[in-house]
Amino acid sequence: MSVIILGIESSCDDTSAAVIKDGVLMSNVIASQKVHEAYGGVVPELASRAHQQNIVPVVSEAIRQAGIEKSDLSAIAFTRGPGLLGSLLVGTSFAKGLALALDIPLLDVNHLHGHVLSHFVKESPDSEVPEFPYLCLLISGGNSQIIRVDSPYKMEVLGQTIDDAAGEAFDKCAKVMGLPYPGGPFIDRLAAEGDAKRFRFSKPHIAGLDYSFSGLKTSFLYTLRDAKAENPNFIEENKADLAASLQKTIIDILMDKFSKAVKQTGIKTIAIGGGVSANSGVRNAVQQYADCHHLKAFIPKRLFTTDNAAMVAVAGYFKYLNKDFCDISLPPFARVTV
Ligand code: KG4
Repeated sequence: MSVIILGIESSCDDTSAAVIKDGVLMSNVIASQKVHEAYGGVVPELASRAHQQNIVPVVSEAIRQAGIEKSDLSAIAFTRGPGLLGSLLVGTSFAKGLALALDIPLLDVNHLHGHVLSHFVKESPDSEVPEFPYLCLLISGGNSQIIRVDSPYKMEVLGQTIDDAAGEAFDKCAKVMGLPYPGGPFIDRLAAEGDAKRFRFSKPHIAGLDYSFSGLKTSFLYTLRDAKAENPNFIEENKADLAASLQKTIIDILMDKFSKAVKQTGIKTIAIGGGVSANSGVRNAVQQYADCHHLKAFIPKRLFTTDNAAMVAVAGYFKYLNKDFCDISLPPFARVTV
């Protein structure tokens, strides 16, 4: 009999539901919340309310697009954390209620595991997936981690940020430039037109495989403040070069430690995940590094880099195969690493 999993994601500001059948994606519906744009960041209370409005239509649409009935579902996977508690509560409560009504098991998914396992979202039965072990560079608005993945059930964090995440570096520097939130995609677009060698910003000197981005943010802020004191139009006149130089610095920092991890572990398969893995420069740098060092690289489709329920359903599918079901009394959690 087929295994059909409904995945539900509501950790931040995207309400998403997806259906996978025997590991193959049948639907992936995402409702993004525009309400936060006016505030320069996600407003937790507004996010929670928007999830409440979106969850029923999004789940119904995912089931409709998959061409199944609710009664066909084998289990429900939901993001238990980390994320915004008010947002997580909506997806968690909905998943529990539906599982209870349908009398099927629940699968709790760590959102970060979802990003790491997003490479197993198969759009067709013969989609290529990574072999274990692989090294995953997980880069998002809240995390920057290098993770050794030995199996869907065994992951080890080899290095992580000690302050800001890579996405925060993009977003905070973009804010200094007066760009909208989240600034990462705007920097990406501007960088395509700019000279990446024009400006230099400070890079951290940290032992081991850990990251730090707070020094870069300060260096960027001070460079722009000093230049604006001499020329008030400095940012406007140099925005493409500023974006390209900032993006290159972030990529250099990321690749420095990621390549060290590859050398230290000798692992031949690498992957990226999380919102920042949508960045064109990051994607090119990882692919080029893999080509130069004869490694296999898995670069996710942009659709699967940001928050989506397909990755939650896939992570849940592995748990289902392992009969690792969760109790209905488990509460969501806001913070944790892999
Ligand atoms: O994984 P994600 O959707 O969620 C959170 O961690 O909250 O990541 C969001 C982050 C934001 O910081 C956003 O600016 C960044 O991913 N991002 C990008 C790009 N697309 C999204 N950063 C750089 N270039 C992009 N193209």
